[in-house]
Amino acid sequence: MAGACTAAAAAGIFCLSLGRAAVSFGFRHGVSALFAQKPERAPRWLPACRPKMSVSFLSRPDLPNLAYKRLKGKSPGIIFIPGYISNMNGTKALAIEDFCKSLGHAYIRFDYSGVGNSDGNFQECTVGRWRKDVLSIIDDVAVGPQILVGSSLGGWLMLHAAIARPQKVVALIGVATAVDSLVTQFNQLPVEVKKEIEMKGVWSMPSKYSEEGVYHVQYSFIKEAEHHCLLHSPIPVSCPIRLLHGMRDDLIPWHTSVQVADRVVSTDVDVILRKHSDHRMKEKEDIQLLVYTIDDLIDKLSTEVN
Ligand SMILES: *[C@@H]1O[C@H](CO)[C@@H](O)[C@H](O)[C@H]1NC(C)=O
Repeated sequence: MAGACTAAAAAGIFCLSLGRAAVSFGFRHGVSALFAQKPERAPRWLPACRPKMSVSFLSRPDLPNLAYKRLKGKSPGIIFIPGYISNMNGTKALAIEDFCKSLGHAYIRFDYSGVGNSDGNFQECTVGRWRKDVLSIIDDVAVGPQILVGSSLGGWLMLHAAIARPQKVVALIGVATAVDSLVTQFNQLPVEVKKEIEMKGVWSMPSKYSEEGVYHVQYSFIKEAEHHCLLHSPIPVSCPIRLLHGMRDDLIPWHTSVQVADRVVSTDVDVILRKHSDHRMKEKEDIQLLVYTIDDLIDKLSTEVN
């Protein structure tokens, strides 16, 4: 316990209560297994130490097939929901996999339609279609209760999934949660700029997180996304929720996470801010905080059930 708290404090975060000792052992084992790895790189000619685990496909009638990777293990399972223009192989997705593997918990990561190895055309994708993708993964790939970890736009979709599947979704962790984001950002543009985007049909949104320096967001994507906005009224999600956000996030202000905390009907909600983190939240300390948060929730859920 003390060791875990010290580590958490060293990571510059509020020290979470880490629950029962028996579970903490599993936890410490898991975390040390993950962070004992020295940052020294594997020799270049070896592709990776990661065991080869081929991508699986979920076929769906009338909808694009979805690529996913599943690790079988204990309940609750964890599902990672990626951000906009992100796939199943991001830093956070892989770190959570290592963590789940060390704890023996089930884990799923996947690509949205039109992204990575999934079928479908990215240009035709909408928040509504990706929401359906998340539900397909929950319904047809995941077994038993699930903790959803949503990154950026994935945090928006995770709330929708919790609304749609209240029995199966038992807890949520949002990382730089981007609820209503593209819609809010679009609405803040000057009227002339909005008109121009409407005429051109595409918004070239400057972004330092894109290789090109801009995201080309279809106007139709923004219009469709309006139907999925959540912050205007109470959000009917009552499970435990943890919202991690960097105060240096210049894409999605951390106030968004506070707004989500305010709107959800759940009373078990923590917002955890990291002063020096940006939108990606993928520095070592960010990842550490993320896995501590997952572990704390697993601990909490398992002690509630027993
Ligand atoms: C993700 O990694 C797997 C190998 O683990 C690879 O087969 C797949 O193509 C990768 N997906 C993307 C979108 O890069």
